[in-house]
Amino acid sequence: MSLPHCTVVDHPLVQHKLTLMREKDTSTYSFRALLREIAHLLAYEVTRELPVADVTIETPLTTMQAPKLDGKKLALISILRAGNGLLDGVMDLIPSARVGFVGLYRDPETLEPVQYYFKVPDLLDQRMVIAVDPMLATGNSSAAAIDLLKQAGATNIRFLCLLAAPEGIARMKEAHPDVPIVTAAVDSHLNDHGYIVPGLGDAGDRLYGTK
Ligand code: URA
Repeated sequence: MSLPHCTVVDHPLVQHKLTLMREKDTSTYSFRALLREIAHLLAYEVTRELPVADVTIETPLTTMQAPKLDGKKLALISILRAGNGLLDGVMDLIPSARVGFVGLYRDPETLEPVQYYFKVPDLLDQRMVIAVDPMLATGNSSAAAIDLLKQAGATNIRFLCLLAAPEGIARMKEAHPDVPIVTAAVDSHLNDHGYIVPGLGDAGDRLYGTK
């Protein structure tokens, strides 16, 4: 069964932890720990379609055919910098994953995303690729990051976030209808500054204690 274009993980543990993260007085330490915990639960959902193949093993009682992950190791791609908060949690669950980083900034004149860093694992065309960024807001930088991953050869991509705005989901659907999105919630709208409302504020600042 393939993932729909957008999956909202409405598990009570995810929703409870997300509510704690949204509260403005939650400390940097707690915010970071909660994001890592939620990442474990979201990773479970976004990796649902990882290929498995039966191998022969010996249990203490008998020989059996049992499933193991098959194919090339998956590639996790963090969209800097807030992506690193989700990345840490996903790596806890999939410690042998290959890891890449994409850095983009918004050109103040053209407002277009500009790449400042790009380093990804080889053979992306043979791996499941999971791009991670906690906030899917306008979707412009996410769509640009996926463009870069496709240029690097990726064909089997998922996008994992914590919170999405309807505008960002629509932008991704238009630019990359082949990329399923997994998120913990879809909020109401974007404000004039491109922040998700009600949201949780600036995920990078809250994660790293900057302002
Ligand atoms: N990025 C954030 O960190 N927060 C938002 O609300 C939108 C984009």
